[in-house]
Amino acid sequence: MANQSIIQFKNVTKQYDSDPPVLKSVNFAIERGKFYTLLGPSGCGKTTILRLIAGFTQPSEGDIFFNGEKINHVPANKRQVNTVFQDYALFPHLNVFENVAFGLRIKKLKKETIEAKVKEALSFVNLDGYETREIREMSGGQRQRVAIARAIVNEPEVILLDEPLSALDLKLRTEMQYELRELQRRLGITFIFVTHDQEEALAMSDEIFVLNEGKIQQSGSPTDIYDEPINRFVADFIGESNIVSGKMIHDYLVEIVGRQFDCVDKGFNPNELVEVVIRPEDLEITSVERGKLIVRVDSQLFRGVHYEISCYDQNGNEWLVHSTKKAAVGDEIGLYFEPEAIHVMRFGETEEEFDKRLEAYTAGDGHGE
Ligand SMILES: Nc1ncnc2c1ncn2[C@@H]1O[C@H](COP(=O)(O)OP(=O)(O)O)[C@@H](O)[C@H]1O
Ligand SMILES: [Mg+2]
Repeated sequence: MANQSIIQFKNVTKQYDSDPPVLKSVNFAIERGKFYTLLGPSGCGKTTILRLIAGFTQPSEGDIFFNGEKINHVPANKRQVNTVFQDYALFPHLNVFENVAFGLRIKKLKKETIEAKVKEALSFVNLDGYETREIREMSGGQRQRVAIARAIVNEPEVILLDEPLSALDLKLRTEMQYELRELQRRLGITFIFVTHDQEEALAMSDEIFVLNEGKIQQSGSPTDIYDEPINRFVADFIGESNIVSGKMIHDYLVEIVGRQFDCVDKGFNPNELVEVVIRPEDLEITSVERGKLIVRVDSQLFRGVHYEISCYDQNGNEWLVHSTKKAAVGDEIGLYFEPEAIHVMRFGETEEEFDKRLEAYTAGDGHGE
C-alpha cells in the first residue's frame, strides 16, 4: 500500500511492575522517510517508546504495527530497526572497522561484501580511512559517527537515536545536528530521534511528538508546535512564552490583565476562561501611551542578538520581551503587539478537538487576515 505508515502505535500502554503506567494509551503513526523527534522532559517515557519499537520490551496493552503488520511479539533481531544508543555502546576492544562490521559478521555475510558495506557506511559518515583506528583514539564526535555507521550498515528501514548528542559540547553538538539531518536526507531512511532539548527538536525535525505524563501532548511540524501550542505544558516547554489567564469575551475578543484585545482566535463559548500565550519576540517596546500593556522593567540581559527584558504588569504577571531595543531597569514602558501575536488555549482540549478548531481558522471567514 502506498503511503502506509511504517510504524504505528495503537493504544499502547506500558507499565513496569506495579508502578503507575509510563505510557498511557499512546497513539501515533510514523511515515516513511521523515525525521521524527520525540521531545519531552527526563523520565517521560521517550526511551521506553524506542525500546518498544526496537522490541527490547513489550507493550502491557495495545498494539505496535510495522508496515501494517502487528509486531508485538516479533523479536528484536527480526525487526528492520537499528538503535544508536545514548552512550553509543561501541566495543572498546574492537577497532572502527570491526565495530561497524559486527552485525554483518553475525549475519555471516561474505568477507568481500562486509568490506564493501563497511567502507560505504564509513564514507557516509565521513570516516573514510579510519578503519583501523581504535575506539579510544576517536573523539566524541567521531565515536558518534561510528555508532551511526554501525546502525546504517545493516540497511534498516528505521534508525532510532536515543539522545545521541547529549554528551557532546555545544559547538560539536550543533555540527552533529547538521550532519545528522543531512545524513537522514541523503539516506532517505526514517529517523526517530529522542531529545529533551527543544531547540534541537525545532532545528532538526520534520515532525515532533511532544511527550509528557505518559501521553503525546501534541504532534506536528516545528512551526506548528511553536506557533500554535495546544496547552500550557507545550507552550512552556517549546521556546519561551508569556502565559497569562484570560477570558474570551466572544470570538475574536479576549480579556487579559483587565483589558480587552482583538485576536484571531475563535470557536470559544462566551466568557470562557482560557490561557493566553504571547511569545517574547512578538512584544514590542513602545511608549506608555501607545502600549497595549503597561509594565515596569525589572531586569535586562544582553543575549548577543537581542536583549532579554523582564517586566511586570500591575497584576504581577511577568512579561518577557526579546527586543533589539534596550530598556532601562525601573522604567515604566508600553508593550505593543498585533492581534496575531495572541494565541488562545482552551483548558483540557484534546489534540483532535484542537486541530479541528484550528482548521476552521484557516478555512477562513474573512476575519483576521
Ligand atoms: N526497566 C524498567 N523498569 C522499571 N521502570 C522503568 C524501566 N525503564 C524505565 N522505567 C521508568 O519509566 C519511566 C520512563 O523512563 P524512560 O522511558 O527511560 O524515560 P525518558 O527516556 O523519557 O527519560 C521512568 O520513571 C523510569 O524510571
Ligand atoms: Mg531516555
